[in-house]
Amino acid sequence: MESYKKLLLANKAFVQDKLDVRPDFFERMADTQKPEFLWIGCSDSRVPAEEVTGTEPGELFVHRNIANQVIHTDFNMLSVLQYAVDVLKVKHIIVCGHYGCGGVTNALSHKNLGLINKWLRNIKDVYRIHQRELEGIADSNQRWRRMVELNVEEQLWKLAETSFVQQAWKREQRPTLHGWVYDLHTGYLNDLFMLTWQTEVNDIYKFDFEA
Ligand code: CO
Repeated sequence: MESYKKLLLANKAFVQDKLDVRPDFFERMADTQKPEFLWIGCSDSRVPAEEVTGTEPGELFVHRNIANQVIHTDFNMLSVLQYAVDVLKVKHIIVCGHYGCGGVTNALSHKNLGLINKWLRNIKDVYRIHQRELEGIADSNQRWRRMVELNVEEQLWKLAETSFVQQAWKREQRPTLHGWVYDLHTGYLNDLFMLTWQTEVNDIYKFDFEA
């Protein structure tokens, strides 16, 4: 059997599983979505958002890209973010990185990867900002892990620096921003950072909103 056919067969089993539990599962699901969470994660195939969080269809609004980046010129990410915050009114945004991230590893090399250089450049910036701390960590494994964590933290701040998040914080005291890192070796999520509507953003990034 060709490998892709396995996916279509598994889909039939998925439908049957859902219908066995709730005969109206798909009809109810098709009506509307009201997810409480926006997930911004890495595209890495080993970090499936729904599976590692035990969530069902309808619970997570998802955006994934290489190394879970929040880049203010990325209309794809920004459109997902605005829709999640303004229309779906999510309560939580989770940025989830993972130890052993190939995007982070390549960004800290000197490899010329063509177009991907432009994307990974943002991660080189994270390294430069935290260079002193990172170069002070003697154990190379610990240094890589810390770099992955700092990459997640920097993306949280970039979310807090958007007008969408600032406006929702001011008007509705949501969403809360969470920075997590998934451990490929254990399957556990590390809950590391949290920014809330009470977090002070550096003044230069603040926007004015009408009352
Ligand atoms: Co990755």
